[in-house]
Amino acid sequence: MTTTGLVQGASVVAAVLFILSLAGLSRQETARRGVNLGMAGMVLALGATVALALVRSERPVGVTAALILFVLVVGATVGTWRARSVEMTQMPELIALLHSFVGLAAVLVGYGSFLTAFPLGEGAAGGHAGAAGSDTVHAIEIYLGVLIGAVTFTGSLVAFGKLSGRLRSAPVTLPARNWLNLAVVVGCAALLAWYMIAVGPAGGAAAVVPLLLMTVLALALGWHLVAAIGGGDMPVVVSMLNSYSGWAAAAAGFMLGNDLLIITGALVGSSGAILSYIMCRAMNRSFVSVILGGFGTAPGGAAADGPAGTHRETTADAVAAQLVGARSVIIAPGYGMAVAKAQYPVADLAAKLAERGVRVRFAIHPVAGRLPGHMNVLLAEAKVPYDIVEGMDEINADFDETDVVLVIGANDTVNPAAQEDPGSPIAGMPVLEVWHARDVVVFKRSMATGYAGVQNPLFFKDNTEMLFGDAKDRVEEIVKSL
Ligand code: TAP
Repeated sequence: MTTTGLVQGASVVAAVLFILSLAGLSRQETARRGVNLGMAGMVLALGATVALALVRSERPVGVTAALILFVLVVGATVGTWRARSVEMTQMPELIALLHSFVGLAAVLVGYGSFLTAFPLGEGAAGGHAGAAGSDTVHAIEIYLGVLIGAVTFTGSLVAFGKLSGRLRSAPVTLPARNWLNLAVVVGCAALLAWYMIAVGPAGGAAAVVPLLLMTVLALALGWHLVAAIGGGDMPVVVSMLNSYSGWAAAAAGFMLGNDLLIITGALVGSSGAILSYIMCRAMNRSFVSVILGGFGTAPGGAAADGPAGTHRETTADAVAAQLVGARSVIIAPGYGMAVAKAQYPVADLAAKLAERGVRVRFAIHPVAGRLPGHMNVLLAEAKVPYDIVEGMDEINADFDETDVVLVIGANDTVNPAAQEDPGSPIAGMPVLEVWHARDVVVFKRSMATGYAGVQNPLFFKDNTEMLFGDAKDRVEEIVKSL
């Protein structure tokens, strides 16, 4: 078998491994196997790509091998360092940053392919205009690759800024923003027409102008689409950008003639789109309005300085006594549990209560934390049995038969304003209806708002008590008291 045949075979096996990996990742019990299959697929894919690059190399093979080795060492060193040093709570921003790299790579590959296929030097003046045959297809691939890549690049950078707290998470609402978006899309279409007329075998000097103009417009569009999204709706945007980065990679695959990159990009693009759709349904948002970057921007409503009231405080000892007398307890964790790394004492607390005959379950909101499945990952890490971890839809009806709910570092995901205040930025988002329980204890450090920046009327309800302090310290104190 030739090297090319072997590479094609390896590519097919890698693609199958990626599909099996995605299937594994869809369930908590099989997620670890999914990750291992994905890693095996990636090693194979990398090997196949390097082998293909060496076979196709126009330079001496030794030089190409040295260049590849150099970038592999740089990439692997940076990747290993980041993976080891990143905190679990910083994962979403790291992912957003990685998405921006994929976008930037697609833009650079696009310009590289353009300059190779349509060199600037070969006079645009004399030659006949317009690309022909396979050139036309390649020219369109380049244009779309740069477009998707540029939108992904700036969109992901804004998402990175918002998730890491470097940028305000409140939406930027420019006047007539939907018309602005539409004008940019129309502008990109008009530039495509100019680009297709200008590009041709005669050279790319005339076509580079519309390509550059479109890049500027696409960079602005990416920024604007994500900047217009309110904090509480960022989860859908992150999965949407995940999808865009997949399509950007697929576009790069077309430009480079790399089948494996096309397959991998399409898998990431389509699974990201499916995830976005699932999250849109969970958040009660319309898929189209996410793509248009215009939801979560309702004016007014319960903002940070919104409805206040008087709250009651409690102590760890009092909560321990409450729990001992309870028959059923539900724990609703949120981002604060991740910040405090409280999952281990929380798992201890759940086990201790179960030993005493209390029925303990966990209620997981689909966007609790900062990553899809964030809470599930933390609880699995702390070895909480899967069968007591329930999704929002399964458990929401059970709160009114529950004695005590412990809200551990959750805020937006348990905010009744989503149902009670139509003007709230989180209006319409389904939430865990913890307030139906007999008693609610909220673990947090202050009366500060959650990620969406809206006040939470739950804290002022008659059956709610606040247990202030770091969630890990407070839960450990309760475990000791038990
Ligand atoms: P949030 O609304 O983010 O609230 C977390 C709460 O934890 C804060 O109010 C904070 O209050 C408290 N906290 C922080 N550190 C703590 C600590 N060490 N000990 C105790 N409490 C602590 O949490 P949530 O309910 O999980 O909601 C998630 C939000 O993030 C949603 O708006 C969601 O849309 C958004 N989001 C989600 C994702 C995904 S995919 N899940 C991605 C991006 C954005 P104090 O400061 O007073 O302690």
